[in-house]
Amino acid sequence: MLAPSILAADFAKLGAQISVVEKAGADLIHLDIMDGHFVPNISFGPAIVKTVHRLTQLPLDTHLMIENPDFFLDDFQKAGTTYLTVHVEACPLLDRTVASIRQRGMKPGVSLKPETPLSALEGILAHVDLVLLMSVNPGFGGQKFIPETLAKIRSLNEMIASRNLKTLIEVDGGVDESNVADLVKAGVRVLVAGSAIFGAKDISQAMDAFRANIALAQN
Ligand code: DX5
Ligand code: ZN
Repeated sequence: MLAPSILAADFAKLGAQISVVEKAGADLIHLDIMDGHFVPNISFGPAIVKTVHRLTQLPLDTHLMIENPDFFLDDFQKAGTTYLTVHVEACPLLDRTVASIRQRGMKPGVSLKPETPLSALEGILAHVDLVLLMSVNPGFGGQKFIPETLAKIRSLNEMIASRNLKTLIEVDGGVDESNVADLVKAGVRVLVAGSAIFGAKDISQAMDAFRANIALAQN
């Protein structure tokens, strides 16, 4: 699945740009929520998520890079989120947070920063729909993909298979046409891309190239 991240979109043309990626075969819309505490940047909150929900039929994939995510679960549910992902580093009672997300009818995901080991998933893997591996340090779009992420994806894929789970692996940060094939072959099911899509001269063409690369790598 391909999940364009609107962090890199032109917010003056948000409706038009979302409609372009939707028509070009996006599977999800990725929304990056940053609070200026968990990450050194501020992006947008539930009001924008609600607006995006009005602009598209696609499921919303909301990535919370915030402290105290538990305070905001209702807001993101009401805004129309399908997948709600929290960072393990921000959740002292992770199992409770994940259960609260599911209770509210959303699909829970957990995310790991690049330096957080997979062992942080031991107790929670069986309870989430997706694991989002960060392939850059979270906070900004347009950073360079950290190549060590590939080995982490392969190990996570084995961990999921050995437990007979169906957990989706999502990768976020520095994803572009040069690494998409390797990522899919390593086991990634959801690719997030911001600047490689919304920063392209022709967004629709960038989407086509991504989808062609994904299809090729799946064969
Ligand atoms: C980074 C965000 C990403 C970001 C990806 O903290 O979580 O979703 O939008 O942007 P690119 O694809 O430009 O690296
Ligand atoms: Zn993200």
